[in-house]
Amino acid sequence: MRLILLGPPGGGKGTQAKRLQDRFGLVQLSTGDMLRAAIAAGSELGKKAKSVMDAGQLVSDDIIIGMIAERIEQPDCKGGFILDGFPRTIPQAEALDRLLADKGLNLDFAIEIRVPDERIVERITGRFTCAKCGAGYHDKFQRPKTDGVCDVCGGTEFSRRADDNAETVTARLNAYHAQTAPLLPYYEEKGKLRVVDGTLPIDEVTRKLEEILQTANVG
Ligand code: AP5
Repeated sequence: MRLILLGPPGGGKGTQAKRLQDRFGLVQLSTGDMLRAAIAAGSELGKKAKSVMDAGQLVSDDIIIGMIAERIEQPDCKGGFILDGFPRTIPQAEALDRLLADKGLNLDFAIEIRVPDERIVERITGRFTCAKCGAGYHDKFQRPKTDGVCDVCGGTEFSRRADDNAETVTARLNAYHAQTAPLLPYYEEKGKLRVVDGTLPIDEVTRKLEEILQTANVG
C-alpha cells in the first residue's frame, strides 16, 4: 500500500504515520525528517536547506524530488510506504506520479488530516521529541506517562525543532495554503482524496485512518 498524508504543519501527519507504519507494515517517508538528518550531518544539502526551513519556506522541488526518488528505491519501501510531508507542490505530485508509473505502482490514498489554522500554533509550539528515539510528544496533548522519561526508550533528553516557533509557523501556514492546498483538488480529481477530522483526539484520528486503510485493495 502507498499513501500520502496531507495537511498543515503540526496537523498530526508525523504522529499518525508512526502509528500506522507498524500496524500496516509500511515505511514512513518524511521529507522533513530527511532534511533535518541532512542538516545534523552537515551535508551540502543540509546547508542549503537550513536557512529555507528556518524561514518556513519550501525547499526547492529539484532537491526534494531527487531525495524521494532515491529513497523509494531502497528495499524497505517494497512493502509500501506512507509519504509524510511529500508532495507539497503540484510539480512534486506530478513527479511522484511519474516515479510510481515507471515502477508500475499505484497510489492508494491521499488523506487530508484537516485542522484549522487557529489550532496550529498551539500544536506546534507545544511539540517536543525524544532526543534518543525520536518519539513525539506534546506539552498538553501527549505527555510522556512519567514526566521527563520517554515512554518508548526510557530516554531522558528531549528536543524542540528550530522552526517550531510562533513566527515561523505563520510562514509555514502561508506556504501550505499557497503551494500545498492545491494538491487537495489534484487528488480529488483522481478519486484518491479522503479527509479525516484532525481536531479529534489522537487515538480517534488513528481509528479513522485505519478505517480508510482497511478499504484498500491490497495486492
Ligand atoms: P516537516 O517536517 O514536514 O514539517 P510540517 O509539514 O510543517 O509538519 P510538522 O512535522 O510540523 O507537523 P505534523 O503534521 O507531522 O504534526 P505532528 O504529528 O508532529 O517540514 C519542515 C520543513 O522542511 C518545511 O517547512 C520545509 O521547509 C521543508 N520541507 C519538508 N518537506 C518538503 C517538501 N516536500 N517540499 C519542500 N520543502 C519541504 O503533530 C504536531 C504536535 O501536535 C505534536 O506535538 C503532537 O503530539 C500533537 N498532535 C498531533 N495530533 C494531535 C491531535 N489529534 N490532537 C492534539 N494534539 C495532536
